[in-house]
Amino acid sequence: MKTQAKASAPAKVILLGEHFVVHGAPAIVLAIDKRATAQAQLRRDKQIFISSKAISSSGYFSNGKFHVQEGGKQAKTKLEPIYKLARNLLNLSKKDVGINLKIDSSIPVAAGLGSSAAVAVASAASLNHLLDAGLTKDDIFTMAFEAEKIIHGNPSGVDPAISTYGGVILYRRGEKIRKLDVAVDLPLVIGDTKIERSTGKMIAHVGDLVNRYPVVSDKIIQVGEAVVNRSIQALEHSDLETLGEMMNLNHALLCAIGVSNEHLDRLVYAARKAGALGAKLTGAGGGGCMVALAYPENLDAVAEAINQSGGEAFITEKTVEGVRVES
Ligand code: MEV
Repeated sequence: MKTQAKASAPAKVILLGEHFVVHGAPAIVLAIDKRATAQAQLRRDKQIFISSKAISSSGYFSNGKFHVQEGGKQAKTKLEPIYKLARNLLNLSKKDVGINLKIDSSIPVAAGLGSSAAVAVASAASLNHLLDAGLTKDDIFTMAFEAEKIIHGNPSGVDPAISTYGGVILYRRGEKIRKLDVAVDLPLVIGDTKIERSTGKMIAHVGDLVNRYPVVSDKIIQVGEAVVNRSIQALEHSDLETLGEMMNLNHALLCAIGVSNEHLDRLVYAARKAGALGAKLTGAGGGGCMVALAYPENLDAVAEAINQSGGEAFITEKTVEGVRVES
């Protein structure tokens, strides 16, 4: 039996369709080259010790009881979803052992780039490898999705899906995940407002709106779906200009459901003014990140405009690789 194993999983950018995907519409999402890593190690005792530098929390679970080491009272709430995932994997593998799980991540937390999903996917993959549990990628996705439900309440599953499979995918709740073959480069600038927010609360806010105004919300969700469908065509034809316009339209719909704010809007307008083909918030909104699509020669100007407007910009591209076991 192995004594240690390591795995990593990527962050994501939702190009189109966030929030509407929770309510049955499709979303287009891509993996980017920022990763979370989980290193699993056998312990001599039966305890499960979890530490995460990114959220400054650590502690061990012994007979279901939590003993905090770092992070105070919130550490248990933050680490418990990963503990449950680890417990589940131990039960499945029928191995009665203890585990150290060390999580490291270069993905900004609570910023719309899928950090919690990447951590859950990397954790499941490292434990699967350590314990020879025989999980497939589909199983890893399902396990990470369960952890995400504990964290965010009613997520669609789009975040753990892209973190598991990588590339560019069309995701629709309850349907088979469709990989999109995108030949064209997608040069992107991400702008972080540096305002942390809770994905669960943003999902709940939209859920409440949908319950109060079902007829109106339904129409907006239908337009969200039409925007995604038109964008698939644009991607198939390497038509970045149409894709940019669809991103702008998508941002307007997200404003309509109240998930943008003046910080995100400022970065979105700055990016467009600096030559972006399109710009929108990405992820749950309320803070976190926006994304701009631009021709390569305009990337630096767009990033500079975002920085000048109070955001923190970085340039990125789509990446093919999803979850992977590290040597
Ligand atoms: C969060 O990255 C994307 C949302 O659509 C929630 C979800 O789909 O789970 C806001």
